[in-house]
Amino acid sequence: MRLSTPSWYEDVSPGRGVLPPRAWYARSDAAALPLDGTWRFRLSPTADHADESFAAEGYDARDWGEVTVPGHWVLQGEDRGAPAYTNVVYPFPVDPPRVPTENPTGDHLRRFDLPDDWPEAGGAVLRFDGVDSCARVWLNGRELGEFKGSRLPHEFSVGRILRPRGNVLAVRVHQWSSGSYLEDQDQWWLPGIFRGVTLLHRPEGAPGDFFVHASYDHADGTGTLRVVCDVPGRVTVPELGVDVATGEPVTVPVEAWTAETPRLYAGELATAGERIPLRVGFRTVRVENGVLTVNGRRVLFRGVNRHEFHPDHGRCLDPATMRRDVELMKRHNVNAVRTSHYPPHPAFLDLCDEYGLWVIDECDLETHGFQRLGWRGNPVDDARWTPALLDRAARMVERDKNHPSVILWSLGNECGTGAGLGAMADAIRERDPSRLLHYEGDRSCEHTDVYSRMYASHDEVDEIGRRADEGPAARGALPFVLCEYAHAMGNGPGGLAAYQRLFETYERCQGGFVWEWIDHGLTHPVHGYAYGGDFGEELHDGNFVCDGLLFPDRTPSPGLAEFKKVVEPVRLGAARDAGAVRVTNLRDFADLSDLSFTWSFQVDGETTGSGPLKVPVLAAGESAEVDLPEPPEHGPGHRPAGERTWTVRAELARDTRWAPAGHEVAWGQLPVSARRPPAPAHGARAVVRDGRIVLGPGVFDARTGAPLTLCGVPLAGLRLDVWRAPTDNDNGSARRPDERFGRLWRELGLHRMRHRIDAVSVDRTPGEAAGDTLTVLTRVAPAARDVALRTAYRWTSDGTRLRLAVSVTPEGEWRLPLPRLGVTLGLPATLDEVVWFGGGPGEAYPDTREAARLGRWHGTVDDLQTPYVRPQENGARIDTRWVELGDGTDRLRVEGDPAFWFAARRWTDAALDAATHRGDLVPGGSVWLRLDHAQQGIGSGSCGPGVLPEFGPLPAPAAFAFTFTAPGREPAAS
Ligand code: GAL
Repeated sequence: MRLSTPSWYEDVSPGRGVLPPRAWYARSDAAALPLDGTWRFRLSPTADHADESFAAEGYDARDWGEVTVPGHWVLQGEDRGAPAYTNVVYPFPVDPPRVPTENPTGDHLRRFDLPDDWPEAGGAVLRFDGVDSCARVWLNGRELGEFKGSRLPHEFSVGRILRPRGNVLAVRVHQWSSGSYLEDQDQWWLPGIFRGVTLLHRPEGAPGDFFVHASYDHADGTGTLRVVCDVPGRVTVPELGVDVATGEPVTVPVEAWTAETPRLYAGELATAGERIPLRVGFRTVRVENGVLTVNGRRVLFRGVNRHEFHPDHGRCLDPATMRRDVELMKRHNVNAVRTSHYPPHPAFLDLCDEYGLWVIDECDLETHGFQRLGWRGNPVDDARWTPALLDRAARMVERDKNHPSVILWSLGNECGTGAGLGAMADAIRERDPSRLLHYEGDRSCEHTDVYSRMYASHDEVDEIGRRADEGPAARGALPFVLCEYAHAMGNGPGGLAAYQRLFETYERCQGGFVWEWIDHGLTHPVHGYAYGGDFGEELHDGNFVCDGLLFPDRTPSPGLAEFKKVVEPVRLGAARDAGAVRVTNLRDFADLSDLSFTWSFQVDGETTGSGPLKVPVLAAGESAEVDLPEPPEHGPGHRPAGERTWTVRAELARDTRWAPAGHEVAWGQLPVSARRPPAPAHGARAVVRDGRIVLGPGVFDARTGAPLTLCGVPLAGLRLDVWRAPTDNDNGSARRPDERFGRLWRELGLHRMRHRIDAVSVDRTPGEAAGDTLTVLTRVAPAARDVALRTAYRWTSDGTRLRLAVSVTPEGEWRLPLPRLGVTLGLPATLDEVVWFGGGPGEAYPDTREAARLGRWHGTVDDLQTPYVRPQENGARIDTRWVELGDGTDRLRVEGDPAFWFAARRWTDAALDAATHRGDLVPGGSVWLRLDHAQQGIGSGSCGPGVLPEFGPLPAPAAFAFTFTAPGREPAAS
């Protein structure tokens, strides 16, 4: 036997036997039969067995297994192979268009009968909405053809082959095909029929295709509708009194569609054979004077990059999950989505139309792995592949062209440059001049309408904003977007607020799309969530696949809370007049009539009064100063010297599709009075007895000066600490070796500092009684290095309160910022109820602090942990005035001077650092409490720019203090 090589799946052609692409729609009055469900399934390790007998009539597949369609077979059973993750590199030798002999092949069989009411007349098509990476299809023993293009629809005409009963559909799917070279996106490699399969009746006289053109003229408020269809028919939109023939334009006064006001008009396209519901959104997209406008106005993208992902089902998403994504986006002030890096399930775009999201629809195309080869052999620069590229472009545009939410087409992602991309651009422009073109890889902007970049630094965005960047003249005249920025891997991204300021400063900078929406961690019985390498992959990119604003189960991460705050569409800030708040409507279109406003007043974080706030219905872009009421100073929480704050909130006045009335859209806090530092604590005399020093409520080891109990609470190991388990962003990337702090800190030894005790003495504080201060002088330094932190601990007490003043003086030549600077102490594990007055409710770091609001917060130690898929530094609470840890009986309170960061966990930072998965974190016998004076920022260094200089200073002399009390036992000070 001789196998023919290369085979069809290694051929550059996009397919054979497939119908031309056309508009996708979910419903019509034509019959449809979903073929989703349980299919017979057989997996072979290679593609080279020539046996196609399974596709023949009468084949007995009783000994086969089963698979759920849609789905990925590698996620359906341990004997089905495994997922594999690579970012850039191809997981097979690069020899396009050939693929390896080891080519997992899934044979699928499905028997079906036609429903009794299936019409006899007319034809039928069989539609595959997504098969990774290619399929060869037979129906009732007849071969229909084959196709590639994993995230694009493909249809076959099957009318004449269908029979009322006992149809057998056979589909052979290979994991690897020539198409895999075009699908090198940064995600799991997951083969299978992962989107639906549907049999669609095509009545005689039904449209082959139709194109809804609906533009909006902002000058006169009219919309023009023209539905082009390949068969004659009528177009009706009852609400607009429209009833016209297909092809005929009609202009009527309308409300425009925008992401903020997603006004859709229900209509119908009626032809002799089929009635298709339409949802018409009128809008016009342009570049005018270098600015991207919709309906004549500049828009600002508050966007995210969305991959399709589910922790159990991979890229197979059910409708509820898609809706959940859209609701979560809307609830977090996201207004735009880039469908990285392929057209999503079309139902997702229906939701974008309905809920209101601007969409960059991206073609299923990435050839990034060729970059590592100097772009040799890149398919986008090789004419043999151009038909495949054009096929992909056409399948995207034809499928999605009737969605008002789609305002830009993107040629793909990270393909370098080449004539094939130009051909795609030309074809798309010709077919649909009503939308703009995007492709980040085209730095010349020869083929694009927007200048797009990923991970440009703040400085560079500033330069681009001022149009001071060097580059081709044509590019200088284009609007600018960051198609990717703010790498949300692990803890972070930091620096969002600084980007937002640039977007709001420069007209040309029209926002960006955070990388990315969701972590792609796969559910794993031991690890919690698996990432690259957990399935024994030969090549992999570890947890680079977990870089989303949502955890894999779609729980929002602190990064999403931060994004929501940073991009909030209403700003509530300080006014000129202290008794007022400045309200600014940062939306592009909508006024504030959907929102209601409230004020509340806090004294020491406790609300003493609240009420509605009357805010004028400001139009988009308008701003006003709104008077606040008399401060309710005498509410229940009133204390004479308390810290006072106004909090103003904007919430939904009425239920919407995506959130109930009362949902908070924006908030602001206005400080009224500054915090008063904690009262001094001195006067008590230290008593030295039996190897112990007793100072007020503190007992210390007389030899080391280490505290043994504070306010009756036993404690372990209080000492200076600078280490944090490096975040993914601390670890940085190869692009910026000088900012790979995780590694540099470790090389310097900051995770293994030695503490030399130079002196333990009981002294007199000037002006106080003799023997009132316990002083411990230390030198904290890593082995093998000559840098150090000279650290003095000075303890004083007034008899009931104990104050620790720490002063730190760097010694030697420090070239790195510290991960953090503070003290760590171990407390009994029972002290796990936490209350604090400070920033909350979530974690915050110097450049991820916008979402932290001043208040009184509580939770358990477990609640304070942020469960990053790869464990790392997390959970610090910012601006803490005081924190209390208790267990119902004992409580320890720590007040800071100045305010501080705290974190508390059931494992040490060393254990956190050593853990690679959530499952590795096991509670120990203590609660480790960290009281920090400083934290390094977070930045976006895992892929983008690192920490801005102001958030990562080099070590400098520092002084800070904490006062410990046991509230309840003794009167607490505030
Ligand atoms: C970009 C790429 C994305 C993703 C990201 C890093 O270069 O377009 O797909 O890989 O980097 O997470």
